[in-house]
Amino acid sequence: MANIIIVGAQWGDEGKGKIVDCLTEKSEVVARYQGGHNAGHTVVIGKDKFILHLLPSGVLHKDKLCIIGNGLVVELSALVEEIEALKDRGVMVDRNLKVSKGAHIIMPYHATIDQLREAAKGDKKIGTTGRGIGPAYTDKAARTGIRVVDLFFPDEFSEKVKNNLVEKNLIIEKLYNGTPFGFDEVYNKVMSFREKIEPFVDDTDVTINRCIEEGKSILFEGAQGTMLDIDHGTYHCVTSSSACAGGAMTGLGVGPKVIDEVLGVVKAYTTRVGGGPFPTELNDSTGELLRETGGEYGATTGRPRRCGWLDLVVLKHSVRINGLTGIVITKLDVLDGLKKINVCVGYQYEGKILTEFPKAMTVLDGCQPVYEEFDGWDGSTAGVRGFEKLPSNAKSYLKMIEQRLNVPVVIISTGQDRDDTIFLKDLR
Ligand code: IMP
Repeated sequence: MANIIIVGAQWGDEGKGKIVDCLTEKSEVVARYQGGHNAGHTVVIGKDKFILHLLPSGVLHKDKLCIIGNGLVVELSALVEEIEALKDRGVMVDRNLKVSKGAHIIMPYHATIDQLREAAKGDKKIGTTGRGIGPAYTDKAARTGIRVVDLFFPDEFSEKVKNNLVEKNLIIEKLYNGTPFGFDEVYNKVMSFREKIEPFVDDTDVTINRCIEEGKSILFEGAQGTMLDIDHGTYHCVTSSSACAGGAMTGLGVGPKVIDEVLGVVKAYTTRVGGGPFPTELNDSTGELLRETGGEYGATTGRPRRCGWLDLVVLKHSVRINGLTGIVITKLDVLDGLKKINVCVGYQYEGKILTEFPKAMTVLDGCQPVYEEFDGWDGSTAGVRGFEKLPSNAKSYLKMIEQRLNVPVVIISTGQDRDDTIFLKDLR
C-alpha cells in the first residue's frame, strides 16, 4: 500500500481511529506524529470496543509495527496503563511498539499547571483536556522539556527536574495558589516507569526511514484535527501540536517526498469539543438530535460535543493546508431521516460574504453562516456496504462535497464496524 497520512479535516473526533484500523490491514507500519493522551480513538472490532489514547490504532492488528514519534508528548503512566489494559484483553504489545527517544515527557506538574491555568481563565478557558498537553509543549519550545531519552541519564534527568521545579513551583504557588511539588515525588514517580517502557524505547526516525527504504508502507496517524492545529487552527482555541499533515514530517523525521496520499477524514456534519469559534454550531433541537444520534460525547473526557452542519469553508481550508488527495466520509448515517440538510458555503460578515476561513477570532465571532439547503434521504445508510446501495440523495450529498472541494471521496464509513466501510479507490 502507499504511504498515507490520515488527518482530521475538522475539529477532531471525525472517526480517524476506525479508518486507520481499516487501512492498517494493507500497511506494515502505523505511526503517530503529534499530540498525546488528549486523543481518543475508538475502534470497534466485532463486539469489542477499544478506546486508544496514545497508542496508534494499528496496535490492534498483529504483526504491525507501531511507532510513537518524537512529535508526541507522552505521559508515562498513561502509556503503561494503556499497554497493560490491552495486554489484559489479549492484544499483543511487545516488540511491535516503538517509542521515540525524542518524545517529550508530560511531567506531573504539567497537568497541574494545565488545570490551574484553565481554572484561572474563567469564561475565557480553552476547555483543554487538562492532561498537561499545552504545558509540556510549552517546555519543549522553551527548550526546558524532558525527553524519553533523559530517563536513561539519571544525573542529567535529576538536574533537569530540579531546575524545572524551581520555575514550576513558583508558577503553581505564587500565581495560582496551588500546592508545590517535591523533587523526590516527581523524580521517583517518573523514573518508576523507566523499566517498563525501556523495551519500547527506540531511535524511531532511524527505524521508520529504514522501513521506507525497505519498501514497507506507512500509515501516518494524525490526532485531533486541522482546526485544532497550533498554526492553522482557530488559535488560541487549539491544541499545542501540528495536527495537520505537515506535522507528520517533523513529528517522525521523514521527508515529504515519501508521502503518496493525504486523506482527510470528514464527518458528514461538524462537531467540536471545548471552547472556541464554531460558525455552524446548532444550539437547537437539530444540534441535540445530531449529538444523540451520533453519540457525540468525548472518548477521552466524556464531555458532550458541540454539533452543527457541515462547513465547506472549514473544509476548503483543510484541503488546502493539508494538500488532501482524498476524502473519507464518516457518520453519514447520523443524517438519515432528516428532511433537509444544510451545508455552509460562506460566512456573512459586516455585509460581505467570506469564502475563506478568517484568521481573527473577533471576525469569526461576528460571522453568520450562509447555508445551501439539500434534500435529505429516506431509508438508512447505516451498515450499507456498496456505494450503489446508498439512497440517491445520500449519493448526491457525497458528490456535492466532492465537487465543491475538488477532491474525490475515497472511503465512506457507514458504521462503527470494520466491515461497514465502502472503498471507492484502491489505495494500494
Ligand atoms: P488540549 O489538547 O488538552 O490542550 O486541549 C486543547 C483543545 O483541543 C480543547 O478544545 C480540547 O477539547 C481539544 N482537543 C484535544 N484533543 C482532542 C481530541 O482528541 N478530539 C477533539 N478535541 C480535542
